[in-house]
Amino acid sequence: MVPLFGLLLVSYFSASKSVEVITRSQSMRDGETVLSARKTYEMGFFSPGPEVVVWVANRENPLENSTGVLRMDEQGRLLLLDKEAGKVLLDSGNLEVRDGEKDLPAGLLWQSIDEPSHVMLPGMKMSANRRTGARRHLTSWKSPDDPSPGNYTVEMDFSTLPRVLLKHHQAIKFSTGHFNGYRFVGVPFMQPESVLQCVVRITEDQADYIIQMKIPTISIMTLSYNGVGQRLLYDEGTNVWETFTYLPADECDRFANCGAFSICNMSNFPVCGCLEGYAPRNGDEWDQQNFSSGCVRRTRPDCSGGDGFLLMPLLKLPHLINSTVDIDISLSECRNKCTSDCSCTAYAIANVTDGMGDALLGSAIFWI
Ligand SMILES: *[C@@H]1O[C@H](CO)[C@@H](O)[C@H](O)[C@H]1NC(C)=O
Ligand SMILES: *[C@@H]1O[C@H](CO)[C@@H](O)[C@H](O)[C@H]1NC(C)=O
Ligand SMILES: *[C@@H]1O[C@H](CO)[C@@H](O)[C@H](O)[C@H]1NC(C)=O
Ligand SMILES: *[C@@H]1O[C@H](CO)[C@@H](O)[C@H](O)[C@H]1NC(C)=O
Ligand SMILES: *[C@@H]1O[C@H](CO)[C@@H](O)[C@H](O)[C@H]1NC(C)=O
Ligand SMILES: *[C@@H]1O[C@H](CO)[C@@H](O)[C@H](O)[C@H]1NC(C)=O
Repeated sequence: MVPLFGLLLVSYFSASKSVEVITRSQSMRDGETVLSARKTYEMGFFSPGPEVVVWVANRENPLENSTGVLRMDEQGRLLLLDKEAGKVLLDSGNLEVRDGEKDLPAGLLWQSIDEPSHVMLPGMKMSANRRTGARRHLTSWKSPDDPSPGNYTVEMDFSTLPRVLLKHHQAIKFSTGHFNGYRFVGVPFMQPESVLQCVVRITEDQADYIIQMKIPTISIMTLSYNGVGQRLLYDEGTNVWETFTYLPADECDRFANCGAFSICNMSNFPVCGCLEGYAPRNGDEWDQQNFSSGCVRRTRPDCSGGDGFLLMPLLKLPHLINSTVDIDISLSECRNKCTSDCSCTAYAIANVTDGMGDALLGSAIFWI
């Protein structure tokens, strides 16, 4: 197998030397490793195996043999060579390149946390900037033993309200609900109060999503080569990695599983149903459990005041392709706007943090 260079989470205490700083006069050869202070992370050359690898330096350029050396040159560039540095490994699983003569933060030249691989570690950031298009996202491995970039990505979408998407090339396979000012709707473990604390920061142009640990456990989010998002928790008592959550978790987690104007509900059979007042667009397909064509309205809406809105609680918002988001208006102003526009079919609250008491309202859509 080909040796690669990267960061590994260690679930054992190896006999390696326990230093967490490598300076310019030192280098690191294949076979040597560096442990972080609390021995949580280990850095070194590796070949894909059972270890949990959280970051790979040379994803696309594996070394051919074990003559590899990591060192830092006089200009402070980290060099990975076939055949020596200010390098610091922190217990956040972050590889930092620092200028030892300057204080932080000015002395921090580069850090691996700014370039996520296929694992989201506490402190890492996923982000999307809608003005520049810049994104910071996870990319899967090609296969279990090939870390070069694979078919799947996990990324933020900030075209309207922030959400996190799991994509196969350009096709959306899974979407969290939109961020409602408090949390991503529909993904229990992405709540701000869970062990793995999810923090979303929004500015006009940019949305950032950061995970933080509330208690000192080792918990990470990974994207597997075959497109499964997993939340892993390391049990220090038994030295075993436990998988907490899989995404997509069930049929209703599959993006747009039931087509337009429908609801997917795992408690029902079939899981797909049309919204009230709507019927399958193609009844034969629907009867054969092919829901892709979705549903259509049975009758045209009466816009002269005859129709009202129906509260649809506990749902993720739909795709929001033809929606407008105005974060500054109230729910009743939103309702008025929708009522006065006959092409408006539904409205919902975009930021629930003012009305937090009513959790139901938080994810409700009002449908005409
Ligand atoms: C190791 O691989 C490099 C090319 O990556 C080659 O130049 C070198 O000769 C190889 N060394 C051995 C001992 O095979
Ligand atoms: C990735 O996509 C390529 C081409 O679409 C396909 O041949 C390959 O099997 C896919 N790999 C995985 C792990 O899905
Ligand atoms: C899902 O279906 C169950 C059983 O029919 C029902 O009690 C529940 O309210 C439904 N959930 C939603 C969000 O509609
Ligand atoms: C479901 O229906 C769509 C639209 O008619 C069609 O393109 C697709 O092939 C069907 N899927 C299956 C599995 O039959
Ligand atoms: C968005 O609106 C356009 C124009 O009204 C319409 O043609 C299109 O089908 C709509 N797209 C969706 C996904 O509703
Ligand atoms: C949501 O509302 C709260 C309270 O009014 C405010 O502090 C926060 O900035 C709002 N969030 C967004 C994304 O507008």
